[in-house]
Amino acid sequence: MRDPESQLAFIRRLPKAELHLHLEGTVAPETLVELSRRHDGTPLELEQAQAIYQYADFSGFLLAFKAVTERLRTPEDYEFITYRMLQRLARQGVVHAEVYVSVGVVYYWRRIDFEPLFAGMERARKQAEQDFGITACWIFDAVRHFGPEEAALVFRKAAELQSEHPAIIGIGIGGDERRTGSEPFRELYAEARDAGLHLTAHAGESVGPEGIWGALNIGAERIGHGLSAIHDPELMGVLVERQIPIEICISSNLRTGCCASLADHPVRRYFDAGLMITLNSDDPAMFLSDLECEYQLAHDEFSFTREHLRELAANSIEASFLPPERKVDLLRRIEKTA
Ligand code: ADE
Ligand code: ZN
Repeated sequence: MRDPESQLAFIRRLPKAELHLHLEGTVAPETLVELSRRHDGTPLELEQAQAIYQYADFSGFLLAFKAVTERLRTPEDYEFITYRMLQRLARQGVVHAEVYVSVGVVYYWRRIDFEPLFAGMERARKQAEQDFGITACWIFDAVRHFGPEEAALVFRKAAELQSEHPAIIGIGIGGDERRTGSEPFRELYAEARDAGLHLTAHAGESVGPEGIWGALNIGAERIGHGLSAIHDPELMGVLVERQIPIEICISSNLRTGCCASLADHPVRRYFDAGLMITLNSDDPAMFLSDLECEYQLAHDEFSFTREHLRELAANSIEASFLPPERKVDLLRRIEKTA
């Protein structure tokens, strides 16, 4: 067995894509304090910021996520957190990121136009590509339990901005599946697909396999979490046959309580069954993790070997929405990584 230091070094050298990452979930309490100093007469103390990140269960986590997002106010805030996120990813050997941004929260709770905030994100994305060589693109995420009218604002904004900003590649739905399934979004998903956007959905995170069937039925190309597929052999068969990518987020599932323990997590059973799985960090600042931790966890707790980790890195590239030429190039680099 190699020493842990060289294990981490290997993980870092592997070119990887991060496919399930929320921009707002990368904001650490320390960063929130910095932002508060810019805006607030009485800025947040670190302990106050840390208190925002405390939650006991999945519903509490969604409220914490909303509380952080509400504190992001200006284009400069979005520029700052985007640059910092991409800098951190590049240090972990992430070469490409497809990042969810919670446009739904901005529209529903703040009732302001998203476009100026998006301009800040785009400035940082371009700068980070120049500075670190990392590429990124955006997935506009709606909140399920705000309903289809709100989601329509999010998806139509993505379609409207896409021609000027090709870095917008898709749409998705997050939030609370226990309150709203996928069916109400069927027509909006079809409309987004016709507009040339890729379709993703958080599904089977906090509900059973019916949540994943629902997401597949409205055309989701990738499934976020997909935890409960393990309980439905027929669904497992379909996911294997169609090689639908599952964006696995182990630390997230444990910390939100959606998965009771490491021993219960299906990641290894999915891999052994031939599902197309990728490792991801979801909201790293809220789950005290990052992508290299997730690879390390897979190795330490689920006995994924180096060759398995290489395969997971390759899956992340194959499951991405990158053009074929870039995929081929990155897959060659992964093969050659020693
Ligand atoms: N928004 C941010 N992270 C999320 C998650 N893990 N599930 C649902 N909505 C989210
Ligand atoms: Zn998520």
